[in-house]
Amino acid sequence: MESKSPPLVSIIMGSASDLLVMEKAAAVLEELSVSYEMTVVSAHRTPERMMQHAKNARSRGIRVIIAGAGGAAHLPGMTASITPLPVIGVPILSSNSIDGWDSVLSILQMPSGVPVATVALDGGRNAGILAAQMVAIGDVALMDRMEAFKEALKSKVEASIERVENHRPQA
Ligand code: RP5
Repeated sequence: MESKSPPLVSIIMGSASDLLVMEKAAAVLEELSVSYEMTVVSAHRTPERMMQHAKNARSRGIRVIIAGAGGAAHLPGMTASITPLPVIGVPILSSNSIDGWDSVLSILQMPSGVPVATVALDGGRNAGILAAQMVAIGDVALMDRMEAFKEALKSKVEASIERVENHRPQA
């Protein structure tokens, strides 16, 4: 899957089985009109591809990498060790994960000097939003769209207040 303009965000995942979570990042980037690419890069099964992707991302014009993986989730951290670009990590509750904590901690507990911005377990959508915010630092029009996005969140909650306050439980 690929949007038309040259991609600014690269979404990578350890396996096609991660797609249901990672496509949520793609969906919100589409909502916000941020160009992206999405592919499979496995740290353990295709290490040379991971090296090549991380080494070339900057020169290809990528600004942010979103990397998702489950279980022994080395893809985000290893990618961050190779590229100067910011890496957002998405821990995934995969079939080989014990309880999700393995993925969370593998991505979160990086050594000093090599940060990975880790979102919540299965947090593909937040990863997409954070990537858009990073790209927006150098793009005023996109930052305006981020502001509108936040306003829409506020309006949605405000619209629910009266409904909740007037709600009476069924007898
Ligand atoms: C990880 O192992 C992948 O990121 C995926 O979350 C998990 C399971 O992969 P499959 O066995 O489904 O390919 O490396």
